[in-house]
Amino acid sequence: MADVIKELISEEKVKERIRELGAEISKAYEGKKLHIICILKGSIFFTCELARHITVPVTLDFITVSSYGDGRESTGKVRIVHDLDERIEGKDVLVIEDIVDTGRTLSYLLKMLQERNPASLTLCTLLDKPMRRTHEVKVDYVGFAVPDEFIVGWGLDYAQKYRNLPYIGILGDDE
Ligand code: IMP
Ligand code: MG
Repeated sequence: MADVIKELISEEKVKERIRELGAEISKAYEGKKLHIICILKGSIFFTCELARHITVPVTLDFITVSSYGDGRESTGKVRIVHDLDERIEGKDVLVIEDIVDTGRTLSYLLKMLQERNPASLTLCTLLDKPMRRTHEVKVDYVGFAVPDEFIVGWGLDYAQKYRNLPYIGILGDDE
């Protein structure tokens, strides 16, 4: 049974929207410095593209959390696999995520980061599945709202595959 991927959002549309987000974020943080937290591995492609379109001074840090196994459903647990290298106290922090689905990962992570006393803490996600939310999360910047399908590409994987697709697709199978 082969995986079939249907294009949902073209490479051009993704890039155009990320440019817009970069402009919006640059405006919101005018006169400030921005400390970006990239959630590995999924957000790496989005973070790189977005950071290139942010015009205020940017520093970067990475955190690895794990909430999914190799399947399509959440395992229900959030684990910090690798924590940040730097302190975030007093910094204007922007967390970058690939997709907010149930909200479990982000509600946990944002609470944990808030306890480290950043000057401000906002969230930017490339994709949002609002109808799937079980845990409340305040999302400040959204690339696209997507339907309740399994999405791949732009960092989103299925069993670690397809992160490098240049477009955003829906994963099905050819049954
Ligand atoms: P949440 O905790 O349910 O919001 O799940 C967040 C994480 O689950 C994301 O960072 C993704 O890694 C993964 N995830 C959720 N939906 C999808 C999807 O449609 N495709 C690939 N990964 C997904
Ligand atoms: Mg993820």
